Amino acid sequence: MAVFEPVLTKHIYESGSETMDHYLARGGYGTAREWIGKEPAEIQKIVNDSGLRGRGGAGFPTGRKWSLLARGTDKPVYLAVNGDESEPGTFKDRYLLERDPHQVLEGIILTSYAIGSHHAFLYMRGEFIKGYEMMRQALEDAKKKGYIGSNIFGKGYDLKVTLVRGAGAYICGEETGMLTSIEGNRGYPKVKPPFPAVAGLFGCPTIINNVETICDVVHVVKNGAAWHRQWGTEQSPGFKLFCVSGHVNKPGLQEVPLGTPLTEVIANAGGVLPGKKIKAVIPGGSSTPLLTGDKIEKANMDYESIAALGSFLGSGAITVLGDDVDMVRSVFNLMRFYHHESCGQCTPCREGTGWLEKLVHRVYAGHAQKSDLDLINDVCNNMRGRTICALSDAAVMPMTSYLKEFRAEFEARIPT
Ligand SMILES: Cc1cc2nc3c(=O)[nH]c(=O)nc-3n(C[C@H](O)[C@H](O)[C@H](O)COP(=O)(O)O)c2cc1C
Repeated sequence: MAVFEPVLTKHIYESGSETMDHYLARGGYGTAREWIGKEPAEIQKIVNDSGLRGRGGAGFPTGRKWSLLARGTDKPVYLAVNGDESEPGTFKDRYLLERDPHQVLEGIILTSYAIGSHHAFLYMRGEFIKGYEMMRQALEDAKKKGYIGSNIFGKGYDLKVTLVRGAGAYICGEETGMLTSIEGNRGYPKVKPPFPAVAGLFGCPTIINNVETICDVVHVVKNGAAWHRQWGTEQSPGFKLFCVSGHVNKPGLQEVPLGTPLTEVIANAGGVLPGKKIKAVIPGGSSTPLLTGDKIEKANMDYESIAALGSFLGSGAITVLGDDVDMVRSVFNLMRFYHHESCGQCTPCREGTGWLEKLVHRVYAGHAQKSDLDLINDVCNNMRGRTICALSDAAVMPMTSYLKEFRAEFEARIPT
């Protein structure tokens, strides 16, 4: 694997990195200027060949997603960029929006052009006040320069970009929830199929990509598929942002090649806090099952390695839990979150997340009976895969994982 220098985050700690002047001085908008006017299918081919996979959580191949777009309808095509960043522990998109907003805009221009869209929406988490301000300013500056608007770069291509702010709901990160929110409705997810690529925003063909994915597009198109594939693994090529939090000395953002050992990422974060040992690691955001024991040493941060260990790479949010973490309290915190964030549309999720919160609280407070642990698993079985979106599964996965790995801690709280 070639020596890796950060790509997406290379400039984010430099003063003025959010400004147009800074972006232009480092060759910014050069790729969009070069490619707008060329054959869009060529951009799609580079992205497809690069093996880039969506960074929002599911890791779906970006080029393949674009190729699923319904063609030949008389409807407009939309791009919806997901900057809701609602998975607990995840803070990578915030850095990109706040500190390199023009990189995001250049990715939007290239992606919109590649998929034949003339209107892109960027949906941002409501709490991202600074990110919104930076994006608003960047958009204004890009419009003034003629990089966004009519006849951009003088190449006869028109593109409108609309910024949309959420109001602090996890469910609006789920792609169809995000679309209904952009439409001005309550952020309820929709049944798939039809998939957004066929009937998405306002019933029109829509591509949804995460902010990090969109930024990757700029560099993949600029440097080519082979350049991207020099890092990572055959099935998980390239590099990724990881958000490291929890019991480490230097929590923060890291950009490393996919396939980097988890232990190396933890070492980059200054290692575990003094006097602590690792009890468990959440590898990809709060909805992903825990890694424990020798799985932590075995884990490489790519989609296949983490899946083989029974979890997911997810959004790249790694939370390190030290040996003094109370696992019942920790999962109670998560269940409270999922119950609060359930949109309530599907009964198994609305009722199930409520029951999980109640049951785990019962254990935590020392009021539970032994049969309550079986009841927790029962509730999970009635939630898994039975809802419109994956929020229900996102609650079930940590719940069953905590209970399986640390059952003794649950049992120790049950009065005899
Ligand atoms: C409950 C839930 C919350 C989600 N939150 C986000 C989010 O905040 N940001 C994001 O990009 N994707 C989120 N996703 C994944 C999106 O539905 C979608 O897969 C992603 O935006 C697609 O972009 P990508 O292909 O570039 O990864 C969430 C999914 C679920 C089920």
